[in-house]
Amino acid sequence: MSSPTTSATTASGLADEVARRRTFAVISHPDAGKSTLTEALALHAKVIAEAGAVHGKGGRKSTVSDWMEMEKARGISVSSTALQFEYGDCVINLVDTPGHSDFSEDTYRVLTAVDAAVMLIDAAKGLEPQTLKLFQVARDRGIPVITVINKWDRPGQAPLELLDEIIERIGLTPTPLFLPVGIAGDFRGLLRRGDEGAATEYIHFTRTAGGATIAPEEHYTPEQAEAREGEVWVTAAEESELLSAAGQDHDQELFLAGHTSPVIYASAMLNFGVRQILDTLVELAPAPRARNDVDGKPRATTDPFSAVIFKVQAGMDSAHRDRLAFMRIVSGEFERGMVVTHAQTGRPFATKYALTVFGRERSTVDTAYPGDVVGLVNATALAPGHTLFVDKKVQYPPIPSFAPEHFATLRAQSQGKYKQFRKAIDQLDSEGVVQVLRNDTRGDASPVLAAVGPMQFEVMTARMLGEYNVETQLDHLPYQLARRTDAASAAELNRQRGVEVFTRTDGALLALFSDKWRLQYIQKEMPELTLELLVAGTE
Ligand code: G4P
Repeated sequence: MSSPTTSATTASGLADEVARRRTFAVISHPDAGKSTLTEALALHAKVIAEAGAVHGKGGRKSTVSDWMEMEKARGISVSSTALQFEYGDCVINLVDTPGHSDFSEDTYRVLTAVDAAVMLIDAAKGLEPQTLKLFQVARDRGIPVITVINKWDRPGQAPLELLDEIIERIGLTPTPLFLPVGIAGDFRGLLRRGDEGAATEYIHFTRTAGGATIAPEEHYTPEQAEAREGEVWVTAAEESELLSAAGQDHDQELFLAGHTSPVIYASAMLNFGVRQILDTLVELAPAPRARNDVDGKPRATTDPFSAVIFKVQAGMDSAHRDRLAFMRIVSGEFERGMVVTHAQTGRPFATKYALTVFGRERSTVDTAYPGDVVGLVNATALAPGHTLFVDKKVQYPPIPSFAPEHFATLRAQSQGKYKQFRKAIDQLDSEGVVQVLRNDTRGDASPVLAAVGPMQFEVMTARMLGEYNVETQLDHLPYQLARRTDAASAAELNRQRGVEVFTRTDGALLALFSDKWRLQYIQKEMPELTLELLVAGTE
């Protein structure tokens, strides 16, 4: 492609920048070791000199992102940000995902911004609910997944048992690139698998004090490995051959198509296997690719600048009371200060304040390329799913909303605060903190909030108070599920007991049901009514 860009970078220079980028997210159940791995990756990329520097000993979760008291109290990270680092010739963007399942809608949005995912599994616990749910999201989005089996330094299951679990429970074929030498709890190193499962190399790791620094590696031939490790090496080599016989060897095409997943065994805490994770990302994960617009037409990465907003966040740091919109660049070069068009309104948007944010660290971004994540300051008109572009108009498909399962009404405690209340609702709604539903019967003074998880309500009320100074009252509603309906069905549905129809801010008509039996009864008795699942696969 030789479309002109608006900057000084030549078309081939831009293509080179795209080719060296890898943008990924880690998906895992809380406590699988996402923060520890993030820190270990940063250590290997020399972003930090010692593990523990980012998080602080014993206080890891409270310092990664402490924009909200609730995060501290709950030990969760609500805010999604991105860490960029250079590794060899590559530029790696690690986009953070919220750790708690109540925020899986945010995670879904983050996954629209990445080209690959690392599925992190705790070796002792195996597949956990949140891993399964997030994996499904990655699959729905067609994102290739690399599997990391973490905490191999602790006693746990046998290596092949875990792989069977992946096949049986998620239907993905795991294809280990490395197998552990030493059982779980006695992690000595990694066997590198070559063609047809033949061991090509043994990488032995040495522990460092507290896992604070990179674990030194020694490399041995298979013969040397057998002489050194004896039985444990022979076992690993045999396992590798068994996997090969079962067809579990890496195949790049099948990986990119989402059928197989390369596997690496690791200990994020000891920094064992972390370099191998980075090397795998560089070698196997895809670079940014063309993205289809709403009409299905692809925008090449070397076309003029365009980007998708995938996250809006306000009040991330008490020292900066602002609103940041995070965009993932899809095509072209971004230069701070360039004036872009906001596709949803057709209005120009000046990008004077462009930042990267990770935890508390903020730095100005002057140029960025496809795959990069940039935060735009005080971008009040921007919402998740929106498009920015220059030159040839483009608009990317909206990000679908999740099916909410929790519902509550919200109203201002004091009548006098109604104006602020309205403003806050509109802003937090456009950020995607919760979904906001209204109908004529209930009126506007107490809209209905719909959430995937109840902690979203806590974020909503805490932010109403903290940022808008509005005390609110939340009353839970006895509804459990929602279906999309249409105007023709709405009147009949509203006549039913245990059902209420609302309009969501995006215009969608949602019917809420008290329970699944009521829904099933109505579907059976009145099959002519339109009742569709909101996002396939989320219930
Ligand atoms: P998360 O972000 O996925 O929630 O997990 P996090 O990194 O906070 O790790 C959860 C716990 O698991 C932490 O222990 C962490 O030290 C431990 N952990 C992470 N990776 C490994 C590993 O490879 N091996 C072992 N043995 N443990 C690991 P904690 O006791 O909750 O916290 P801390 O006091 O150690 O920080």
